[in-house]
Amino acid sequence: ETGAESKRAGLDRLAERAAQEGANGRVHELGTLREVMVFATGSEDAEIMFIGEAPGAEEEKQSEPFVGPAGQLLTKIIQAMGLRRGEVYISNICKYRPKIDDGRMQGSKNRAPTAAEMEACLPFVVEEIAIVQPKIIVALGATAATGLGIEGKVGSLRSSMQEFRGIPVLVTYHPSYLLRREQEDGGGMREKRLVWEDMMKVMEH
Ligand code: URA
Repeated sequence: ETGAESKRAGLDRLAERAAQEGANGRVHELGTLREVMVFATGSEDAEIMFIGEAPGAEEEKQSEPFVGPAGQLLTKIIQAMGLRRGEVYISNICKYRPKIDDGRMQGSKNRAPTAAEMEACLPFVVEEIAIVQPKIIVALGATAATGLGIEGKVGSLRSSMQEFRGIPVLVTYHPSYLLRREQEDGGGMREKRLVWEDMMKVMEH
């Protein structure tokens, strides 16, 4: 049978290759990414693929994308869509946590991955998309969109369906951005509403 098992095996092989690149390949040579690879989580048969930026401290610790504060918000959004984390596919455009300084003392500090870092990881993203074949990709934030070759501000990109290699891409705000806006006046209600509008489009797609 060539069902879920072979897709899973393909993803496992891919994750292994990505880990090797971090140990001694192109990713390692960049010297700007930390060593722990965080690949993806969820179902190989998912119709919806979420793509974020890069793992943070908590993701690195647990070897799973989106498990820190932003991840908990993403999980709530997924549940509000009537789904479980295990039913969608959750990944990042960069499979390694970007270093700040030499990466030893950065604590919980994160930065967005650079174009070079995203480019080094792009072959893995391209291949996981090819294996999973989602109906739709949700790019979380402008950085992830840029990594997929989609340039612009979230505010304008979200208003029409984008595309990556024939697959529809909806660009929306990153959950970290929603959390940052919560700290400000008004609590980011507007952005939350916009993200919810976007998720309805995803559900209807
Ligand atoms: N933010 C991201 O973009 N990705 C993660 O995996 C966690 C937080």
